[in-house]
Amino acid sequence: MIDSQSISIPTISSANALPILKVLTAQRSLLAGMAAMHNQLGDIFEISFPGFAAIVLTGSTFAREVLVTSRQQFEWRNDRDPVTGLLRHGVLVEDGHFHDTLRGYMEPTLRRSKVGEYLPAMLGWTDEVISKWGNGSVQDMLVEMRRLALLILMDTLFAVDMSADLPRLWGPILRILSYISPGLWLMKPELPRFGYQKSINEMDEYLFSLIRERRLNDPRAGDLLSELVCRQDMTDDLIRDQLLTMLIAGHDTSTALLSWALYLLAAHPDDMTLVQQEVDQILGEKLPSLEEINQLHYLDQVVKEALRLYPPIHVGNRLARADLALQGCPVPRGRRIMVSYYLTHRDQKVWQEADRFQPQRFDRSSPHEQPPFSYLPFGGGPRNCIGAAFAQVEAKAILARILQTFDLELAAPQVKIRMGATLEPQPGVLIKVRRRNGSHVVNEQVGVSA
Ligand code: HEM
Repeated sequence: MIDSQSISIPTISSANALPILKVLTAQRSLLAGMAAMHNQLGDIFEISFPGFAAIVLTGSTFAREVLVTSRQQFEWRNDRDPVTGLLRHGVLVEDGHFHDTLRGYMEPTLRRSKVGEYLPAMLGWTDEVISKWGNGSVQDMLVEMRRLALLILMDTLFAVDMSADLPRLWGPILRILSYISPGLWLMKPELPRFGYQKSINEMDEYLFSLIRERRLNDPRAGDLLSELVCRQDMTDDLIRDQLLTMLIAGHDTSTALLSWALYLLAAHPDDMTLVQQEVDQILGEKLPSLEEINQLHYLDQVVKEALRLYPPIHVGNRLARADLALQGCPVPRGRRIMVSYYLTHRDQKVWQEADRFQPQRFDRSSPHEQPPFSYLPFGGGPRNCIGAAFAQVEAKAILARILQTFDLELAAPQVKIRMGATLEPQPGVLIKVRRRNGSHVVNEQVGVSA
């Protein structure tokens, strides 16, 4: 509800700066700084630097207001952001009727009922990637899961085998992710950004060649690329924008989720054992069906908890369409609004021992139910994640297959949270993989710093 009473929005002042600055200097992390500001200033606060101002919102009341009840007051598209420059007219950065039309074109291929059809490809690519892991070798899961997520996404949604092109496109994809990651451009968007255009051109060339080929050859009914190509109103440029949107939004998030989940499992051997017992009991050594994946309840809780602790998309960014008020606080037109999914997921008012990995909190029989909109890994309302069903089936299929095959042991226990295009484990997740039958190695020396 928009309230007309006026209360000013708390921000850093000489009275409260010290504890926040202490955290910022000790941890040198924006995320830790935001958590300190939340502690000091509450569920609504303003960050303001020369050239940059944003209102940060935490908790279910604000989330519901921005994402659902007052959503018409906010827009997504921000022409100062590189993500808009990159995705141009992609569904992620469009608003209003055009957004709804694009979303309507893409939704059928990502429906829950459709996702089961993608399972064989998800499992096939998983086996292809993990078959290369030697017994006792150390794998960087951030790299391996990115490779896997890209191969799966391209095959299932675009009916394209990307394996031959992936080595040459790997560099451009990483450059593009760095282009849209937070940086100096937030304060100085007018500064030219050198060194990215070549990578964008390389990706464009690849995507346009896929569109051309599909127009020439019989489109395979059912996949997203064919669906888009068959639509009269979709030009090559518009299709390119949707393909790049899906490629970036659909693989970088899954990469982050999978690498965090593997990190958490390797760091918590008791939970890994519980998942392995469940997987052994329900699947044995065979490939899972969708029905069996849905029976892996503990694995489901692990995935949900990984998404709570490390939501790959940690904020929902919006702009105020007009002067408005949020719970009585005035917000000027054009102000950037950030609904913090990360802070909401770690809000001590809602989550007991919020910073601890406790998959059981998502046990459906648990008495502690969280209020709606306090758990938002896929956002909320009509602009929630279009790939949420896809991502959850994919994550559980991949993790089940890995845990059927390997025991995991952390090879480098300390990781940091990096605020890139998604929240990523930095410098990566190094895990020693051992073919099953060996005993689990307990490593107490683990920790993540924000
Ligand atoms: C673990 C995996 C994923 C996570 C955590 C995730 C998270 C999110 C979140 C939080 C949003 C809403 C952002 C906002 O509030 O502004 C979103 C939107 C979106 N996601 Fe995902 N996502 C994931 C996987 C995927 C996949 C697999 C696809 C595509 C196949 C995808 C495509 C999109 C698109 C196109 C949007 C924009 C929807 C719209 O504006 O209507 N995502 N995602």
